[in-house]
Amino acid sequence: MELFEVIAKRRSVRRFKDKPISEEQLGKLLEAINSAPSAHNAQAYELVLVESPDKKKELAKAALDQDFIEEAPMNIVFCANPLRVRGKDLERAVDYAKTDASIACAYAQLAAVDLGLSSVWVGAFYRDEVSMILDLPKDWEPVAILPIGYADENPPKRPRRPLDDLVKRRI
Ligand SMILES: Cc1cc2nc3c(=O)[nH]c(=O)nc-3n(C[C@H](O)[C@H](O)[C@H](O)COP(=O)(O)O)c2cc1C
Repeated sequence: MELFEVIAKRRSVRRFKDKPISEEQLGKLLEAINSAPSAHNAQAYELVLVESPDKKKELAKAALDQDFIEEAPMNIVFCANPLRVRGKDLERAVDYAKTDASIACAYAQLAAVDLGLSSVWVGAFYRDEVSMILDLPKDWEPVAILPIGYADENPPKRPRRPLDDLVKRRI
């Protein structure tokens, strides 16, 4: 698929079929994630793959009962790890790490479309609860949960701001 076709096709999907994603699809998703740019190329994030029913259930609960986390065959949890950023103060390192994790997640969303899969970015969850459920080291911060699978709905394109509202100035 052409990149612009992928971008136009992507939707947040919140209903998933009971069908696993293949190891080949997962490998390609991880390659796409690993190609994302990052500050100083530090790739200051870590991934946790969550596919066991028990853990998915706990994750969904920590994410305000967003049940599609449980429904999706695979969830990728993107965790910022500021310790991977060298020689910067902590505030900047945390900023870089969260940005790196977010870009990686956006790459995964687009790669998923090219693989015939769908996803939804989940940012509404209790950080402490997710850290506990996944037994994350104390320096990692979960930034996004990404449920991925085969869509069981076909949502319409959601509205966006007009471009002349988006671009405030051209100087
Ligand atoms: C940072 C961030 C946090 C989000 N958190 C949630 C969430 O917790 N639950 C959810 O259903 N969707 C969440 N979304 C998805 C947005 O609601 C969705 O991208 C937006 O409504 C536009 O729809 P579209 O992705 O289909 O274009 C989040 C998206 C982003 C980028």
